[in-house]
Amino acid sequence: MDHFKLYNGVEIPAIGYGTYRSMLERDENVIIDAIKAGYRHIDTAARYKTEPGIGKVIKACGINRSDFFITTKIWTDDLGYDSTLKAIETSLENLQMDYLDLYLIHWPINYGDHEAGWVDDVWKEPVVQTWKAMERAYEEGILKAIGTSNFLPHHLEVLFAKGNIKPMVDQLEYHPGYTQQYAVDFCKSNDILVEAWSPLGRSRVLNDSFILALAKKYNVSAAQVCLRFAYQNGIVTLPKASSIERMLQNKDIFNFEINREDMHRLSTLSPLGWSGEHPDFKRVQI
Ligand code: A2P
Repeated sequence: MDHFKLYNGVEIPAIGYGTYRSMLERDENVIIDAIKAGYRHIDTAARYKTEPGIGKVIKACGINRSDFFITTKIWTDDLGYDSTLKAIETSLENLQMDYLDLYLIHWPINYGDHEAGWVDDVWKEPVVQTWKAMERAYEEGILKAIGTSNFLPHHLEVLFAKGNIKPMVDQLEYHPGYTQQYAVDFCKSNDILVEAWSPLGRSRVLNDSFILALAKKYNVSAAQVCLRFAYQNGIVTLPKASSIERMLQNKDIFNFEINREDMHRLSTLSPLGWSGEHPDFKRVQI
């Protein structure tokens, strides 16, 4: 499986297994399957409540901790300096690990609590304090890389101005028909690697007629078209899947190439919907 490199030299597998809601139906067995399918990059978050299950499975699976790339995220309730140090400790305990490969601020603001987050600046200080605590843990070697999730350029610029270390990663909702291109370009111009959450648009985009036509043309599935599209754009993907067959399929994207014209077409598809989650605004019900 291919890797990308963060600006601090850390290598990150180009495809990770996304664990949001992953254990609701199949508990830890889904993680056992993901490891069997060859995933070594696993994306979790304190909010997902999947850390303890992942920790248990990794501890028991007989594969070295150092062969895994583990990402987790701090939830908005824990933003602040001391609370961040505590949250890192709790995640390490849950995961039964003594370091994390990547630690992210899950959202810059608790969007659910704000009618319109941009009206005031209340989010800035807790986020900056969180970042300073993460910088400390990074310098101590407990976090091998640090970054953000759902940060748009105006959020990132606060960290550029107040922090000492630039984020290495920003995780954004990204899939054909919703690529947040302005934010992606901003990250790229600042050496921040973009990770795609919901790279399959929570399966919504898999029935799009153009994506299905490309799937037929390249003799792959619609999911593989979406994942390869992100990969060719230099973006890490974190697909979720419940069955081992889909898990295997989703990481089998390195034997075909989408041509330039088709990449342009995929990049300019008409909107195919999104999750309804935006850091600056109240959640939209989709
Ligand atoms: P399931 O969990 O039943 O396997 P995203 O990662 O964009 O949030 O999308 C996740 C959704 O996409 C889930 O509903 C998942 O279904 C579905 N999915 C994942 N992989 C595939 C695939 N290879 N083919 C079709 N659907 C997939």
